[in-house]
Amino acid sequence: MKNKILVTGGAGYIGTHTCIALHQAGYDIVIYDNLSNSSREAINRVSQLIDVSIDFIEGDIRDAKRLREVFEAHQFFGVIHFAGLKAVGESVAKPLMYYNNNVSGTINLLEVMAEYKVKKFVFSSSATVYGDPEVLPIDENSPRSCTNPYGQSKLTVEHILENLAVSDNDWNLITLRYFNPVGAHPSGQIGEDPNDIPNNLMPYISQVAVGKLAKLNIFGNDYPTVDGTGVRDFIHVTDLAAGHVAALNYLEDQTSAVGFLPINLGTGKGSSVLELVTAFTKVSGQKIPYQFTDRRAGDIASCYASADKAQSLLGWQAKLSIADMCEDTWRWQSMNPNGYKA
Ligand code: NAD
Ligand code: UD1
Repeated sequence: MKNKILVTGGAGYIGTHTCIALHQAGYDIVIYDNLSNSSREAINRVSQLIDVSIDFIEGDIRDAKRLREVFEAHQFFGVIHFAGLKAVGESVAKPLMYYNNNVSGTINLLEVMAEYKVKKFVFSSSATVYGDPEVLPIDENSPRSCTNPYGQSKLTVEHILENLAVSDNDWNLITLRYFNPVGAHPSGQIGEDPNDIPNNLMPYISQVAVGKLAKLNIFGNDYPTVDGTGVRDFIHVTDLAAGHVAALNYLEDQTSAVGFLPINLGTGKGSSVLELVTAFTKVSGQKIPYQFTDRRAGDIASCYASADKAQSLLGWQAKLSIADMCEDTWRWQSMNPNGYKA
């Protein structure tokens, strides 16, 4: 029998891509999502792409009663936990909402998992937990610190998972620290669909390219980097999705519990903001007007992963290039200028 996975937040950007990869790898999936930052249309598109009707439950991770119903109805091998709020600026304005959703929600989910003795958990953490890194590339033992409530909510969950692993050594708590996920499914059917004006670089670039936004503001050109603009480790979302499959496969192979296990998911290579703009211009054939503005508060100069642990432990490595990331983003954006809205 195929192992069944509960995917919280599975209707979102990374979740939809991961559900496709999980299905293709032979896992059964159940999506649990409150649709606060996603849509039924995204789930419909996943169903169409894999030619299977997805088992979707609309629910909130803070609703223990609803979660218990789901755990009563299904025998899960494990949980991949994407559900969470992710906008840094909003988290500064609404810290209680962020801690409630991301921290209380995760505690609630872990409590229900413990009740049903489901103790395999893959958590969406972020490179943001490394703060402003002293050493590059960043490995998993680098010091952690955060300055904004979003990052702090991820770091707090990491601490909770560490405590949980110490308290009970049956837990398997893989914490995947994503670097900068970008790109879209090569079909152009699913991708990132920001609600409002995008905060992140790639969706902003693609909305300028498609003519929805007039020009890109590049936040700072005086960083100590190759061209003065910020450097990040952009990773294609389908590579990221494959990393989740590798994490589950790894758990299937283990004979004893792994405890708290943090793993970076990045390419190991940094690219600058200007390099990404240049690559996108080339791939899309569109002009991307930009201007340099002041640095964005809280930004760091450079951030890229050491991806050695993912390779040695999970046998996973990112395969796709910056050109692939731009090409797939552009296909998604040009085919769906308004995202999932008709
Ligand atoms: P997303 O917003 O597209 O997906 C998150 C999903 O969770 C959405 O479908 C949303 O409706 C759902 N959700 C939110 N709160 C919920 C709740 N209380 N109950 C049930 N469902 C809820 O975001 P994403 O980009 O796919 O990110 C997935 C995870 O990865 C998040 O936890 C995010 O913090 C983390 N992460 C994302 C990035 C990134 O750049 N996208 C980077 C690092 C970490
Ligand atoms: C941001 C968040 C991080 C979160 C991640 C994924 C901040 C400070 N950090 O990371 O916590 O985990 O998104 O959601 O918000 N840039 C521009 N113009 C833009 C947008 C971005 O020049 O319009 C630059 C930024 O200054 C940065 C780079 O592009 O140098 C990448 O920015 P972004 O895509 O927002 O990601 P991060 O800041 O790395």
